[in-house]
Amino acid sequence: MADKKAYLKIDGIEETIELPVMQGSEGPDVVDVRALTSEGLFTYDPGFVSTAACESKITFIDGGKGVLLHGGYPIEELAEKSDYMEVCYLLLNGELPTPEQKEKFVSTVKNHTMIHEQLSHFYNGFRRDAHPMAIMCGVVGALSAFYHDSLDIDDAHHREVCAYRLVAKMPTLAAMSYKYSNGQPFMYPRNDLNYAENFLYMMFGTPCEEYVPNPVVAKAMDRIFVLHADHEQNASTSTVRLAGSSGANPFACIASGIAALWGPAHGGANEAVLTMLDEIGSVENIPDFINKAKDPNDPFRLMGFGHRVYRNFDPRAKVMKVSCDEVLKELGLEDDPMLKMAKELERIALEDDYFVERKLYPNVDFYSGIILKAIGIPTNMFTVIFALSRTIGWISHWSEFHSSPNRIGRPRQLYTGPSKRSYPG
Ligand code: CMC
Repeated sequence: MADKKAYLKIDGIEETIELPVMQGSEGPDVVDVRALTSEGLFTYDPGFVSTAACESKITFIDGGKGVLLHGGYPIEELAEKSDYMEVCYLLLNGELPTPEQKEKFVSTVKNHTMIHEQLSHFYNGFRRDAHPMAIMCGVVGALSAFYHDSLDIDDAHHREVCAYRLVAKMPTLAAMSYKYSNGQPFMYPRNDLNYAENFLYMMFGTPCEEYVPNPVVAKAMDRIFVLHADHEQNASTSTVRLAGSSGANPFACIASGIAALWGPAHGGANEAVLTMLDEIGSVENIPDFINKAKDPNDPFRLMGFGHRVYRNFDPRAKVMKVSCDEVLKELGLEDDPMLKMAKELERIALEDDYFVERKLYPNVDFYSGIILKAIGIPTNMFTVIFALSRTIGWISHWSEFHSSPNRIGRPRQLYTGPSKRSYPG
C-alpha cells in the first residue's frame, strides 16, 4: 500500500507528528523515524529489539514462523541441495550461479587460498595456548597490511577481490591457528580438494601421512558452513556494517565482526555448550542445571537454547540435528557419554514448562557443537569455524552497504548522568 503513515502524539507537543511507513518485500512494516530528530526527539531501543538499522536484500528471517531465506531460498533447501560455495555466490550476488559461473567462482576462490608467507610469522607472536579466536582477531585484521591493491572501498572490483580473498583465506588462517596450538606444521591448502575437504585436510593432515577426508564428515562440515553463512543483522554483522560505515578497510571490519562473534551470547555459544556439558558431568546432574537455568537469581543459562529472533524454532537447528545424527552414526559415536548427555538435556528442556512457555528451543549452536566435537575439532575452535562460515555473510553485508549511498552509523542515547555542574574549588 502506497503512502502509509504512522501518527505520533506526544504530551506537550501540539501537532501530531506524521511519519512515513516503509514496506519491504517480506516482514513487518517499518516506521521511518528519521524526521523525529528535527522535532528534538530520539527513539529508545536498547538491544535494537524493534529497530531496522538498514535496508537489505540479502537475507530474510521470520522468527515467529522459523523461516530463514537467503536470496529468497529457504535454508532447508539450500542445506539439502546446494553447497557452501554456491551459497557464497548467492549471498554476494543475489542469485544462484549458473554451472559456468559457479566453476569460475570456485576457481577464483581457489586462486586465493594461500596467505602471504610473511603473515605466517605473525602466529609466532602468540602464546601457544592463546585462544584461537584471539589469534583470528589479530591475523584477520593484519590482512589489511598485506593486500593494499584491493582496499579502495568505492571500487566494486576491489570489493569483490576482498570478498574472494577473505572467503579463500579464512580456512587457511583458521586451520593455522589450530596447528599453532598443537605444535604441528602449518599445512598449505590443497586446491584439488573442495572447500570443506581442504579445511579438514589443513586441520587434520600432516606432512608425514596421506590424509583422506571422510566424505560424510566433509559433507557435514560443508553443511555447518552453509547453516552459519548469514543471519541478517545479528550482532557481528551489525558490527561489521557499523565499522564499515566509517570507511574502515574490509579486513579491519571483518576483524571487528570476529570480535563481536566471540561472545557466548552469540557465536561463542557453540563452545559454551560443550563447556557446559563438561560442567554438568553426567545425566544425573541435568535436573540441577535445569533448575539453575530457571532460577531468576542465578545468571546461569542453558547454552545452545533460545534465540532473540526465533521464537518458535531455529530452522538451522532442525537441519543440524539431522546432520548430527548422520555424523554420530558414521563415526560410531551414538553411545558417547557426552553426546548422550546432550540428547537427554535436549529432551528434558523440550518438555519443561519454563522452556516451553518462553519458547526456548535448541538453537543451531547446540547441535553444531556436538557435531564438531564428534569430528574431533577441539572445543576452542568451534567459534573460529562459525567465524569462517560467517565471513561470507559479513563481507556481503559490508559490500551491500558500500554499493549504495550511505552515511556513518551514529546511534544516539538517553543521557541520565549529571547535568552540567562546576568543577569544585
Ligand atoms: N536458559 C535459560 N533461560 C533463558 C535462556 C537460556 N538459554 N535464554 C533465555 N532465557 C530466559 C530469560 O531468562 C528470560 O526469562 P524471563 O522472561 O523470566 O526473564 C526469557 O527467557 C527471555 O530471554 P531474553 O534474555 O529476553 O532473550 P534475548 O532475546 O535477550 O536473548 C539469547 C537471546 C540467545 C542471548 C538467550 O536466549 C541466551 O543467552 N541463550 C544462550 C546462549 C546461546 O545459545 N546463544 C546462541 C544463539 S544462536 C547463534 C547465534 O545466532 O549467534
